[in-house]
Amino acid sequence: MKTLKTQVAIIGGGPSGLLLGQLLHKYGIDNVILERVTGDYVLGRIRAGILEQGFADLVREAGVEQRMETEGHVHEGVLFSVNGKETRVDLKKLTGGDEVVCYGQVEITQDLMEARQAANLPTYYEASNVQPHDVKSDAPYVTFTQGGEEYRLECDYIAGCDGFHGVSRQTIPADVRQEFERVYPFGWLGLLADVPPCSEELIYAKHERGFALASQRSPTRSRYYIQVPLTDKVEDWSDEAFWEELKLRLPPDVAANMQTGPSIEKSIAPLRSFVCEPMQYGNLFLVGDAAHIVPPTGAKGLNLAAGDVATLLKVLRRVYEQGDKECINQYSEIALRRVWNAERFSWWMTSMLHEFGDEGNDSAMDPQMRDRFMTSEVNYFLSSENGRRVIAEQYVGLPYEDLA
Ligand code: APR
Ligand code: PHB
Repeated sequence: MKTLKTQVAIIGGGPSGLLLGQLLHKYGIDNVILERVTGDYVLGRIRAGILEQGFADLVREAGVEQRMETEGHVHEGVLFSVNGKETRVDLKKLTGGDEVVCYGQVEITQDLMEARQAANLPTYYEASNVQPHDVKSDAPYVTFTQGGEEYRLECDYIAGCDGFHGVSRQTIPADVRQEFERVYPFGWLGLLADVPPCSEELIYAKHERGFALASQRSPTRSRYYIQVPLTDKVEDWSDEAFWEELKLRLPPDVAANMQTGPSIEKSIAPLRSFVCEPMQYGNLFLVGDAAHIVPPTGAKGLNLAAGDVATLLKVLRRVYEQGDKECINQYSEIALRRVWNAERFSWWMTSMLHEFGDEGNDSAMDPQMRDRFMTSEVNYFLSSENGRRVIAEQYVGLPYEDLA
């Protein structure tokens, strides 16, 4: 067994782990990342692409903003379509200047990976049997195997950035953990194509045939989604069938001018809301998907991970710069306040914009009556400036909370 030492052991080399590692390095806090798969595999995951104002600022603080600034697209507004009627939510005007940046998660992950490599920071890819130990003690450690070698990584703190299926959340005893989950009765069929986006800004479409979303990755690459039943398989959907259904759900003028083309990626993702409380146990901190999952309707998945990183960075900087070890006990409470706010917003957007059929939130209610409630709710929020401001504030992201 080979013994290694660091200050912060990071389990998981996805966006959460990489962003945390880069920021800790900036402030002179040593860290090691243990990642189960290869770097190429991590980059192969197609994910979302909307960065809140706060996330973009964190990327700048980490010093990896170059490509985001040149290739990312600042969006000052977002469009909603309710059965073909469009309303624009002016994010910049309604929030006093905040915007979102449209820049793929894969790109941000690549930028962080390259920065870590350039700084020659220790990252163990294809690490297996990763297991946190003694997380309640002052000398926690993580064991893992890599390249046929057994390792013991001694550290002060462990950041569980290992996603929904990781080992970190399971390290919190079942009788200490409280998990909350809502699985939605539909999925999102997503398609990526090298065609120009159909709209300058994103379009969230509520339609009686089902939800649709028009997003983008660049001036020549588009990302689209349509709500599909959970029973659908991706092979049930030809590219032609996808484009035809998408056009039926988007505003007619947008559909009429839409450029279509062959998919370069097509997949169905389930939708769930999930939260684990607490988000820490002794010197183990859960970050990102390890602690929570949101339906993508609010574009919060990646942004919530960034919010956790921002809070954990404040905690660890105070520990190492001021010697205040007590402040670690603030992490879970602060992180969960932001998590539950974004979970509610994502659930609300999902509830308003999707067709639930017989499986709406209130099963005692006639589905058509529920749909009229939801249509009335979304039309109310879109028709009033105060309503649009509520959506805008949540969409660009509330300010990060400071430590007490
Ligand atoms: N040991 C080491 N690494 C692990 C383990 C383990 N036991 N289990 C999982 N991992 C790695 C995964 O291979 C993955 O690369 O942890 C990483 C977790 O990354 P994500 O699942 O992307 O989670 P996170 O970094 O929190 O990013 C959240 O990703 O899933 C999207 O919508 C989500 O945009 C959000 C973002
Ligand atoms: C995406 O571009 O993949 C995307 C954008 C906004 C969302 C979800 C996904 O709400």
